[in-house]
Amino acid sequence: MAIRRILTVDNAADLAVLKQKSVPVEAVTDETRALMDDMLETMYAAPGIGLAAVQIGVPERIIVMDLAREGEEPAPRYYVNPEIVRKNDQLAPYEEGCLSVPDIYETVERPDQVHLRYLDYNGKLVEEDADGLYAVCIQHEMDHLEGVLFIDHLSRLKRERAITKVKKAARAA
Ligand code: NI
Repeated sequence: MAIRRILTVDNAADLAVLKQKSVPVEAVTDETRALMDDMLETMYAAPGIGLAAVQIGVPERIIVMDLAREGEEPAPRYYVNPEIVRKNDQLAPYEEGCLSVPDIYETVERPDQVHLRYLDYNGKLVEEDADGLYAVCIQHEMDHLEGVLFIDHLSRLKRERAITKVKKAARAA
């Protein structure tokens, strides 16, 4: 396993990759699993609770997440070619952040419940409902697969302010 570099929006080349639409995975192979292992290690090291493959520069439809709370056992989750089959009409606000937009937290509204279909670590088809933080996180990560960042849900002013802040912080580092 290896920790990979996480692409961030302050870098123009990184941003161009983050804006790409990710392609479906043809089959879940050992190579896919090795990538997911790297993604998980990278996410834990960051630390974060969700990561899409495109965030480490691989525009494939793969996501890893771990929503375990502090003190709980790690509970890694893997999603290949995830789809939202249904979503609730009810929206819920949540203050989101993103490893590709470091240290920026803004409130985004999303459907409060979704029904998912995806392939797991072993390539097995899974269907399940997600609500609460799970619903927020999976929708945020699935946006990455479409080249959409959480700041794209904000007003233009707020989005530009967020990017400026990340750029300033990167320059100061
Ligand atoms: Ni993100």
